[in-house]
Amino acid sequence: MTKSKSKTELLDELILFLGKLANLRDPYISDHATHVRDLSVRLAVRVNFPSRKIKALSHAALLHDIGKLVLPEQIINKPSRLTEAEYLMVQQHTVLGYKLISPLEMDAMIGGAILSHHENFDGSGYPHGLGGEAIPLEARIVRITDFYDALICQRPYREAFTAGAALDLLLKNRHCFDPALLEDFLHIQAEERRLSREIRRRPMTTKTSSQILCEMP
Ligand SMILES: [Fe+2]
Repeated sequence: MTKSKSKTELLDELILFLGKLANLRDPYISDHATHVRDLSVRLAVRVNFPSRKIKALSHAALLHDIGKLVLPEQIINKPSRLTEAEYLMVQQHTVLGYKLISPLEMDAMIGGAILSHHENFDGSGYPHGLGGEAIPLEARIVRITDFYDALICQRPYREAFTAGAALDLLLKNRHCFDPALLEDFLHIQAEERRLSREIRRRPMTTKTSSQILCEMP
């Protein structure tokens, strides 16, 4: 008799399945979701987010745009500017995602982050115009990482921004973000750029794994 799967295993499989579904619909959504998950986990670790909640945060970040799966494709991938009515429809992806996830008995944090990941720190976001710490921390994290990654990814209607240009835009739109989290995110990005410059400058002093394999008898 096969062992029945635990709730955690089933949840992991479900999330994997939803990711595959998103990829079939639009590979951008799937790649972007993975980037947002990775960036969110790194930011969360830096700000000492409770470690027991990191897995739920990573699921929330991965599923943040899941509501877009039920929006018409011609709107999601429209190569020109959205009309006002279309923009209002796109905004519904937060509520739709929340409703999709709610019956699945996931950690409440996941639904909350999906619902609130477009709320702005100054209260100008959607769907509820929440502001400051009334926005769940995990949604404030995803607000930053989602904004940044959306800019550095290429879309059918525009080229990707460079990392530097995306960071400038983040700063120009700082009213959207939790200032303390934004500072930490900028630190992570600065550190990453410093490390990649260092790696490019470093002379090759150690052998690569393929060199080692070639020299073996
Ligand atoms: Fe979104």
